[in-house]
Amino acid sequence: MQIITTKQELLRQVEACKRKNLTIGLVPTMGALHAGHASLVRRSVSENEVCFVSVFVNPTQFNNKEDLVKYPRTLEADADLLASMGVHYVFAPTPEEMYTVEEMRTSFTFDFDGLDRVMEGKMRPGHFNGVVQVVSRLFYLIRPDRAYFGEKDYQQLAIIHYMVERSELCGTFGDLKIQDCPIVRDTNGLALSSRNQRLNEQEKERALGISRTLFASLEWAKTMSVAEVQQRVIDTINSIAGLEVEYYEIVDQSTLLPVSDFSHAIGCVTVYCGPVRLIDNIKY
Ligand code: PAF
Repeated sequence: MQIITTKQELLRQVEACKRKNLTIGLVPTMGALHAGHASLVRRSVSENEVCFVSVFVNPTQFNNKEDLVKYPRTLEADADLLASMGVHYVFAPTPEEMYTVEEMRTSFTFDFDGLDRVMEGKMRPGHFNGVVQVVSRLFYLIRPDRAYFGEKDYQQLAIIHYMVERSELCGTFGDLKIQDCPIVRDTNGLALSSRNQRLNEQEKERALGISRTLFASLEWAKTMSVAEVQQRVIDTINSIAGLEVEYYEIVDQSTLLPVSDFSHAIGCVTVYCGPVRLIDNIKY
């Protein structure tokens, strides 16, 4: 496995793969890898001849400076895991290598047709512009055949699909296929996230209340209305000491707009567990 830190070397290696007509899989990450990432990587390695993984804590998608500073950075351990999984290339640039000073300073704006104006987009202004800025750059540089994203960040996935399929960039990325990968949970149901590393034992125990409530809501949805289920999920999670719901929205799986019944609906939640912001979702 080769660790690449410059765009120039990356382009050289991509060109060599393209010359040999090798299919390329890309798994974009911000590092601090866990079993959720490993499931994406496993799939990419098995479905493509070459697998690239990017490890880059993208500063332009953080609207909270403290979150950016505290984001775990574990490149050595990440590289060991990726090498053991058969990954061919890790791209781990510095922010200065990835962006010009101007790109770091001015915000990149992109029209997502409203997909970014709800839930995470509403709470974290500019977040999805930063995500699309880095993901589109990775697509331009690596020109993958398939790119792998987890369903835990459901709104991010919807926006990336939009960018690739329907936006003004449509066709730019060739036949790129976005591969949706299911949420990976620990044995107690907690959705795996790099941010879980910041939870102490007590907070980890409390955080289990999030997925437990989401799973219980599948039953509630059989007899209650959307508004009733939404409120009950919020009240149940808030009743657990140390947890505070930022939002729980039940929306259409494609448009992310509010729904009046549960067909094709997904519930997306963000909860503060102490200082750590956790997200999860459930399909009805
Ligand atoms: O999901 C993530 O880890 C990040 O948002 C991504 C897609 C790697 C872009 O920085």
